[in-house]
Amino acid sequence: MANGVLTDKRSSLIDPDIEKKIDDLMAKMTIEEKVGQMNQYTSTWDVTGPMPDEGDTKDRYQKVAEGKVGSMLNILGAQATYEAQKIAVENSRLGIPLIFGYDVIHGYKTMFPIPIADASSWDMEVVKKGCAIAAKEASAAGVHWTFAPMMDIARDARWGRIMEGAGEDPFLGARVAEARVQGFQGYSLCDLDTIAATAKHFSGYGFVIAGLDYNTTELNQNTLFNTVLPPFKAAVEAGVATVMNAFNDYNGIPVTGNEFLQRDILKKDWNFDGFIVSDWNTIGEMPIHQYAKDLKDAAFKAAKAGTDMDMESRGYEYHLGDLVRSGKIEESVVNDAVRRILRVKFLLGLFDDPYKYCSEEREKANINTEEHKVISRDAAKRSIVLLKNETSLLPLSKNIPSLAVIGSLADDKDTPLGSWRGQALENSAVSLLEGIRSAVGSSSDVRFEKGYNLASGKREFTQELKFEGIDDTSGFDAATEAASKSNVVVVALGEECFQSGEGRSQTSINLKGKQLELLKKLHSVNPNIVVVLMNGRPVAEPWLYENIPSILETWHLGSEAGNAIADVLFGDYNPSGKLPVSIPRNLGQVPIYYNHNQTGRPFGYPNDADMVFWSHYTDSDKTPQYYFGHGLSYTSFKYSDLCIESPTMNMSDTINVSVRVKNTGALAGEEVIQFYINDKYSSTIRPVKELKGFQKVHFEVGEEKLITFTIDWQTLAFYGSDQEFKAEPGEFDIMIGGNSQDLLKTELELLDS
Ligand code: BGC
Repeated sequence: MANGVLTDKRSSLIDPDIEKKIDDLMAKMTIEEKVGQMNQYTSTWDVTGPMPDEGDTKDRYQKVAEGKVGSMLNILGAQATYEAQKIAVENSRLGIPLIFGYDVIHGYKTMFPIPIADASSWDMEVVKKGCAIAAKEASAAGVHWTFAPMMDIARDARWGRIMEGAGEDPFLGARVAEARVQGFQGYSLCDLDTIAATAKHFSGYGFVIAGLDYNTTELNQNTLFNTVLPPFKAAVEAGVATVMNAFNDYNGIPVTGNEFLQRDILKKDWNFDGFIVSDWNTIGEMPIHQYAKDLKDAAFKAAKAGTDMDMESRGYEYHLGDLVRSGKIEESVVNDAVRRILRVKFLLGLFDDPYKYCSEEREKANINTEEHKVISRDAAKRSIVLLKNETSLLPLSKNIPSLAVIGSLADDKDTPLGSWRGQALENSAVSLLEGIRSAVGSSSDVRFEKGYNLASGKREFTQELKFEGIDDTSGFDAATEAASKSNVVVVALGEECFQSGEGRSQTSINLKGKQLELLKKLHSVNPNIVVVLMNGRPVAEPWLYENIPSILETWHLGSEAGNAIADVLFGDYNPSGKLPVSIPRNLGQVPIYYNHNQTGRPFGYPNDADMVFWSHYTDSDKTPQYYFGHGLSYTSFKYSDLCIESPTMNMSDTINVSVRVKNTGALAGEEVIQFYINDKYSSTIRPVKELKGFQKVHFEVGEEKLITFTIDWQTLAFYGSDQEFKAEPGEFDIMIGGNSQDLLKTELELLDS
């Protein structure tokens, strides 16, 4: 694995035999049947967007029989998918099978860590494996196609969907994107255990203004090319079968109607051969966006711009045939879309056996197995980030005489399942309290107190959370008493499962309710506190970070959360996660990200410290609470001898940069070694630091290793104002370290030859 890049080859989506079969089939299709392939209906079982009119949905199986539907989403289970497939195959004129899609985001029934958490593992094999298990379970339940991975770079913790991506960095985001695609799709889409993946949301959705979901975006071309697009390009290169567009605009044009993004970049420049599905009703939303006159105009604009399949707007169903017949849209536009859709269906093997994913035996045998739980626990423990361990309170001894476990989240068996949880059974996660109890058995006296309240009532993916009772402090006294009588206090704090995710933007990123107040009380009676954060977005809470000696960022870790956290708390696993996002000190710093462009007035300008004329806040430090890439271990690592093979290189050279890393502590552990560059001057301003490689390496006690990264012109290249990817001669800082801040540095000059 060079620079963290998985070396598996791209599996091309073009197979000449399949293309011939598509030709034969398309020769038989009427325009209505072609448009039918471009139409996707939801079932009403699991609703993931505003519901269509009842009148529209009632007759949808009839429409399947008429060949007017190419795909359905939110229909699940071997039996149900079998029945729907049977209608398509046996009742429609050409018997073209349906493709069933579903949001398998971080697991189907066995839940894995939410995506921002498993990106925190910086371990691409772990990421890949989690998706492979999700694919195995989903495929056993009749699902052919997941609407994942989401690869939107996100810099704004207000945006609830930050939980669904890999954080703020395009390089890490690209590696995670390709690992996820490989995990879902395996080596061949035709294998029974694999499903087609979707690179979403193309593009710029993470840049919604003010972190407000469904908002418009302000995104410049430089950021689009250098920050937003790299994960999508990596996914396409990894052979992703489909791409989903988004609710937002780019440059004033809704991305669903954006020819530049979909046709010019994705289909032409990147040679993407799969198909583009709209996001939920994004074609229908173009008139509301005031970009189209009506649904017909929207269908016209979307088809012309390269949106191949319409999720839930009916725009194509109602109007595309007429648009072709009237000559407004060329039939070749429709033909291209249908070819792409049929290609994916052929690649999945649906024409050979449309029922291959509909086996009830497989469904029984392959879902939520013990083996999957073991793999989920492993992924979860590797995703935990040790933010702070000042007094080496951690790891705890399992024989600690008494332990207070405080916080309603500690006893919550649902929140760890996270948002976007597929078919997870409610309350099926191992809670933190259960994990701790099973780790210590009878050797420690564990007392639990709820302490504070979070949301009340039933929690549902589609409904607003109710925060009634959140100011209740009636549990404080019992919690404080338990804390005062215990050797150590483990306090679970953070967010409810559905505080983040789609439609969950917030104007505050602090701990809700009385959590902080309780923490302060506990701290006043017993400072030996370990805070376990469970959250879907970075939490800004300076008092906590500054006063609590030991803090674990655990995000929402999935089905085995409690066991995985206990593995880390008691040292059965030495934490190795690193932050994929910066943690702000306060909301006012948002958006905050390590790879910001250099200003003309950075820190230290002007030299007179009393003057105000430099880029800073007068009421807050400008640095984040925790830097991107930060994460501690129970052991320590020493970096030395950064050495570059040559201080200069030509465009055609590949050179090595190496560093010695030594485990100087008392435990074996893993370290994520990170490689950054800074382009010191260039034709457009560049980030102060850019991640260009990482390696997660295991070290025995006292072990020292020479870690090497390679540099070629592509490592140093970027997209300039001409949209070309090229390296410019000049000087670069080359930096390696264990986070984005503490780095050893050397220099390199790229010569003009
Ligand atoms: C989301 C997509 C999702 C789709 C289908 C939309 O609301 O934005 O990410 O795949 O619904 O469930």
